[in-house]
Amino acid sequence: MTVETTPMLPLVVEGHGESAVERLRARREELRAALRERGALLLRGFDVGGADGFADIVRALSGEPLPYTERSSPRSVIKGNVYTSTDYPPGEEIFLHNENSYQASWPLTLYFHCVRPPLTRGATPLADTRRVLAAIDDEVRREFARRGWTVVRNYGDLVGLPWQEVFATEDRAEVERYCRERDIEARWLPGGGLRTRAVREVVHRHPVTGEPVWFNHATVFHVTTLPESVRLGLLEMLGEENLPSQTYYGDGGPIPYAVMDHLRACYRAAATRFDYRADDVLVIDNMLVSHGREPFTGPRRIAVAMAEPYSPDR
Ligand SMILES: [Fe+2]
Repeated sequence: MTVETTPMLPLVVEGHGESAVERLRARREELRAALRERGALLLRGFDVGGADGFADIVRALSGEPLPYTERSSPRSVIKGNVYTSTDYPPGEEIFLHNENSYQASWPLTLYFHCVRPPLTRGATPLADTRRVLAAIDDEVRREFARRGWTVVRNYGDLVGLPWQEVFATEDRAEVERYCRERDIEARWLPGGGLRTRAVREVVHRHPVTGEPVWFNHATVFHVTTLPESVRLGLLEMLGEENLPSQTYYGDGGPIPYAVMDHLRACYRAAATRFDYRADDVLVIDNMLVSHGREPFTGPRRIAVAMAEPYSPDR
C-alpha cells in the first residue's frame, strides 16, 4: 500500500488487488488521522468485495453503517444500511453540501463505493469547508453568525418527498415528537401536507480537530441554486412558501441573491474533482469536506453509507 501526498483532495491510498478490509484494519489509526487532517481518502485498487465488503470497510474504519433518517433525497436500499447515491435526474448537478447539515445531528464520516463508473463526468466534487469559510466575505459571515439560518421544508404529493418517507412513519404524533426533540417546528397543512422549519448555526466546530467549518444547507437548499428553468417552474407552480426546501436568515429574513451568488462562488473556488474508477471507495469527513454530484451519462452506480453519528448539543 502506498500513500500519496498531493495537496489536492482526496488523499489517494492505493492497493494492488488485496482485500481492502484487511489493510484498513491494519492501518486504522493512521488512516483515521489522515482523514481528520486531509478531509477525504480515496481507496483505489483494492478488492472491495461487493456490498458486504463495502459495509465491512465502514465497520473497519468507523463502526456500524447508519440508517438514512430525515431524508432530503430519494435513495434505494442496496443492502442493510448501504444505499444508492441520490436517485436524481442524471442531467442535473447536485450542488456541494454536507450531508444532513440541516439536522440536529449528522454522520461524521461518509462512504461512497463506485460499483459502476459513469461514461462521462459524474464525479463527486469535493470542497474543503475550512477553505469555503475562509473565502467568505467577512461581512457576509458576520451577518450569518449573528442571525443564523433557517431551513423550511415542505413535504407533499406534488414535488419533494412525502413526510411518511422522510420520517419513515405513518404516525403524525411520532413526527411531532421527532421534531420537538430536535428543535424543529412542525405544521400540518390543509390537504395532508407538512411544513417544517428549523433555525441552525452556519459555522460549527469539528469535534476532533476543533476547527471552525462552514457547515449548513443554506446554499444547496436555496431556490436560486437550482437551474433557472427548474427554479422558475417551481416558483410558478408552488409559490415560495411551498417549495420543497428554501433557506432564510435565522430570523426569517430573505438572503439576498447577491449573497447566494457569493456563497456558491466560494464553494466552487474550493472544489476539486476526480474521475471514478470501478471499485473506488471514497471516504469523506462530512464536516471538513462538502460533496456534490456532476451531471453524467452512462450507467453510473454509486453505493453510499454513513457512519459515526454526532450531535453538537448532546
Ligand atoms: Fe449528499
